[in-house]
Amino acid sequence: MSNPVAPSGHFLTFEGMDGCGKTTQLRLLAHHLREQGRNVVETVEPGGTEIGRQIRRILLDPANTAIQPRTELLLYFASRAQNVDEVIRPALDAGSVVLCDRFTDSTLVYQGCGRGLDAAVVHDLDRIACQGLRPATTVLIDIDLETSLSRAKRRNERYGQSESRIDDESAAFHESVRKGYLALATSEPARFVVIDGRASVGDVANKIREAVQNRV
Ligand code: TYD
Repeated sequence: MSNPVAPSGHFLTFEGMDGCGKTTQLRLLAHHLREQGRNVVETVEPGGTEIGRQIRRILLDPANTAIQPRTELLLYFASRAQNVDEVIRPALDAGSVVLCDRFTDSTLVYQGCGRGLDAAVVHDLDRIACQGLRPATTVLIDIDLETSLSRAKRRNERYGQSESRIDDESAAFHESVRKGYLALATSEPARFVVIDGRASVGDVANKIREAVQNRV
């Protein structure tokens, strides 16, 4: 039976700075959980649905320099509302583990700490877009600023600049993003699992498995 208040599945989000390796780690955890017999649904923010992918193109196109901070904020939440209704909530109601690459914590740190928008406004929009849905577990893959910038640069050189609008922000912007993440993790220790992302892919994957083992 579906229950909109307490979903039977488990909602787990991955967070971290650009280049922290969360997308790779999300795939590895999905593979591991499927091997253990769990139904797993993978999704991403912004994106995750056809509507969300169209919104993602607007948000991350480096040509869109005219985009205003409030416009940006509303577009992230527009993508999220669609993802919650179309993908995340139905999958949780069906008992799946949902792994989401970024969620509202990203908005709190990138638009809140990074762009200086009021956190209370972010929380208000979260209530509208997510209708009370919150992650049960959030894996924060923490890396220092230098590692983040050098990995993001390497990736843009390899795959092109089509999604580099946020990556192109200043070092101060990214430093405030990192600080924001660590503050969130400190304020909600029961939800957050913080993993050092500078180790090898295999080591980070093992640490994430151990940390989420008894949660999902
Ligand atoms: P993502 O595809 O996860 O990029 P990366 O693989 O580099 O981590 O996210 C795209 C960018 O969007 C990233 O720079 C962070 C930014 N972002 C926000 O600013 N606010 C948000 O709410 C979300 C979900 C992402």
